[in-house]
Amino acid sequence: MHNTEQKFHTKNNVCVFDVNRIRNDFPILCCNVNDKPLVYLDNAASAQKPSVVIEAMNYALRHEYSNVHRGIHYLSNAATQRFEDTRETCRVFLNARHSDEIIFTKNATEAINLVALTWGMNNLQQDDEIILSIMEHHANIVPWHFLRERKGAIIKWALVDDDGTFDLDQFEKLITPRTKVVSLTHMSNVLGTVIPIKEVIRIAHQHNIMVFVDAAQSAVHMSVDVRDLDADFLCFSGHKVYGPSGIGVLYGKREFLNNLPPFLGGGAMIENVTTDNVTYGPPPSRFEAGTPAIVEAVGLTAALNYMIKSDRQAIATHENSLTLYAQEQLKAFNWLRIHGTTRNKGGIVSFTVDGLHPHDISMVIDRSGVAIRAGHLCTQPLMQHYGITAMCRASFGMYNTFRDIDIFVEALEKAYNLFK
Ligand code: ALA
Repeated sequence: MHNTEQKFHTKNNVCVFDVNRIRNDFPILCCNVNDKPLVYLDNAASAQKPSVVIEAMNYALRHEYSNVHRGIHYLSNAATQRFEDTRETCRVFLNARHSDEIIFTKNATEAINLVALTWGMNNLQQDDEIILSIMEHHANIVPWHFLRERKGAIIKWALVDDDGTFDLDQFEKLITPRTKVVSLTHMSNVLGTVIPIKEVIRIAHQHNIMVFVDAAQSAVHMSVDVRDLDADFLCFSGHKVYGPSGIGVLYGKREFLNNLPPFLGGGAMIENVTTDNVTYGPPPSRFEAGTPAIVEAVGLTAALNYMIKSDRQAIATHENSLTLYAQEQLKAFNWLRIHGTTRNKGGIVSFTVDGLHPHDISMVIDRSGVAIRAGHLCTQPLMQHYGITAMCRASFGMYNTFRDIDIFVEALEKAYNLFK
C-alpha cells in the first residue's frame, strides 16, 4: 500500500492539486462495476467527463440548440456563437496564431485522413518517402498506406530502443531528398514514450519536410504549443481530453490550409455551386462539410476550459508519480514484463504476463472493478516489433489515485494466481 496517499501536492505550502477535489468533479467515478468501486485505468482509450462538460452539453441541448452557420434566427446565432467560441478556445489551448487554423473533424483519425488525402494526394509522387515511427497508432499509419497504395509512396520506419526510447539518430538517418512527410505521435498510446518532437520538427524543416504531429495522447498530459513546436499540422480528439466523443481538432498552418483542396464535399464548404461548376470556401469552412458536432463542440469548450484553469503542471507531476509507482509495483512480479520504461514518458504502463492472454487478464480484473485495455492497442507494427500480438495497458488520468493502483496490482496478482 502506498504509505503516503498524496491527496495533494504543495508548492510553497500552498495546495495546488487535490485529487479528491478533482474526483468530485467526475460523477462516473462514484459508480460501482461488478459490485466493486470503479477503478478506471483506460484513460488513453477515452477519458471520463467532468460535470462541467455534461452540464454544458445538457444546457446547450435544452436552451441553445440549432444548426450552425445557416439560420439567421436567434437560436442559430446563439449556437453558431458557441461553436465559434470553441474554435477560439482550441486556438488558445494550442497557442495557434489564428482561429481559422483550427478545423473541426470527427476525431483525430479523421484529421490525419484529411491531411493525407488532401495534402498527400496533391504533393506526393511515386517513390516519395513518408517517415512514421514504429509505435504509431493505426490512425497514423493507414492513411499513409493509402498513399503508398494510390501514389506509390514509400513508408520508412523510425524505431525505438528496447525500453521504448525514440531513436533520434536513426530517425535522422532515414531522411533522404525524397522524404516529403514526417508524421509522428507526440506520445505513444502504448509505451507512453514522449518523442522530442520539437527537435524532430527542427531537423525535418531543415530539409523542407512537412511534419504532422498526432497529439491525441500528449494534449491530455502536457501543454502543446503549435507555435513553439513549429508543427505544420497537429491533431487531437475531444474524448481523450475529458470532452465528448464525435469531435476532433486539426490544426494546420494558414499557409498550408490555404493551398489545400477540400476533403469532403457538401453544405457549408462551398463558395458557389452551379450545374457545371463549384468553388470552395476559405479555411476552415472548406474542410467542414455538412452539419458539424454542434453540442459536442460546446462540451469540448467546457473540457478545454476545465484543463486550462487547472494546474497542468501539478497534474503532470501527479500522473508521473502514479506511473512510477505502478511501474515499481509491477516490477516486483517476475512473471510480468513492462513494455516502455523510458524516462520521458506519460501516464501509460503496458505489459504482458507469461503464459496469459491479455484479454483473459483484463476480463478477470474487471471483476474487481478495474478497467484496463487489452489487445493490439491499434498498433500492430509495434506488436510485431516486440514479437508479440497483444498487451495489457493501464493508463492514468488526473483523477486516478495510488489506491487505484494498489487495487489494480492486487487484482492482477489474483488473476495470475488463478490461471497459473
Ligand atoms: N487510441 C485509443 C487507444 O489507444 C483508442 O486505446
